[in-house]
Amino acid sequence: MIDARYIFMNGKFIPAEQGVISVRTHGFAYGTGCFEGIRGYWNDEDQQLYIFRLREHYQRFLNSCKILQIKLPYSIDQLIDFTLELVRRNEQKQNIYLRPVAYKGDQTLGVRLHGLEDHFLITSEPVGNYIDTSGLHCGVSSWRRIDDNAIPARAKIIGSYVNSAFAKSEAMQNGFDEAIMLTHEGNVSEGSAENIFLVVNNELVTPAPTENILLGITRETMMELARRELGRITRERQVDRTELYVADEIFLCGTGAQFAPVVMVDHRPVGDGKVGPISSALQQLYFNVVRGRLPEYRDAWCTSVYAPVPQETQ
Ligand SMILES: Cc1ncc(COP(=O)(O)O)c(C=O)c1O
Repeated sequence: MIDARYIFMNGKFIPAEQGVISVRTHGFAYGTGCFEGIRGYWNDEDQQLYIFRLREHYQRFLNSCKILQIKLPYSIDQLIDFTLELVRRNEQKQNIYLRPVAYKGDQTLGVRLHGLEDHFLITSEPVGNYIDTSGLHCGVSSWRRIDDNAIPARAKIIGSYVNSAFAKSEAMQNGFDEAIMLTHEGNVSEGSAENIFLVVNNELVTPAPTENILLGITRETMMELARRELGRITRERQVDRTELYVADEIFLCGTGAQFAPVVMVDHRPVGDGKVGPISSALQQLYFNVVRGRLPEYRDAWCTSVYAPVPQETQ
């Protein structure tokens, strides 16, 4: 159930309970669709809801659409306007999760991408933490990350989340908090819904874009914050599984997961088993940045939903 009054669907704002699709819908039957996950953070001091990196999310969304041969009749600016209008209509003044979805909307049998009708919707609902942000125990998954030539991970394709679900359930049913997936070659790829960073010999390291990862917007945010605020360059390279066992620090990051330090991998403590200094610094920075508390990043990365409250005259 969507805990909001309205959704945006095929060009209209409609009551959320009317947002239904037929059981025969192609995107439902075959997973032929893509989506974004975007967070908005309520800042009580500013009485403002800041949506984090909205434009970048829609840029990636349109790339996913292109890969899936989905053509939307909207520009990025229109998509942004629909999104802001939806949140305003819902009068949301809390942390929210926005999910734009584009999918093959035909009610037809036959698996393919071409020659089908493209549908679009956005939902916006209140959200809390997706996973613990104080120290995770991760397990390396026996499920391999889907390959670029099978279902491209760089597109956020609905059907590809079955791969994530296999890994996440296996990890949790084996007593871990989260999975770390490897590529078919056995290199570290990413978590079930997060990118991964390691601190190795004082350097930040993250799997390269060619390691079947989703090119995370939080990943890019971390690289930029680390460079600008901590003076640390991130190396994007192949990462061996056993580097996970000897890294000084590890963290996962993503819109849903936010910033989640990892303190154990496969029953081995990461570093001394406590959250390390680089992770702590980046986590604190991230939580301030997304709430619009650092003006420089607020102007560049946060979209205000509501008109600013006028300052009281002194
Ligand atoms: C598989 C996967 N990797 C990485 C990420 C992180 O991406 P982002 O930071 O853009 O949310 C996500 C999150 O949605 C994901 O589903």
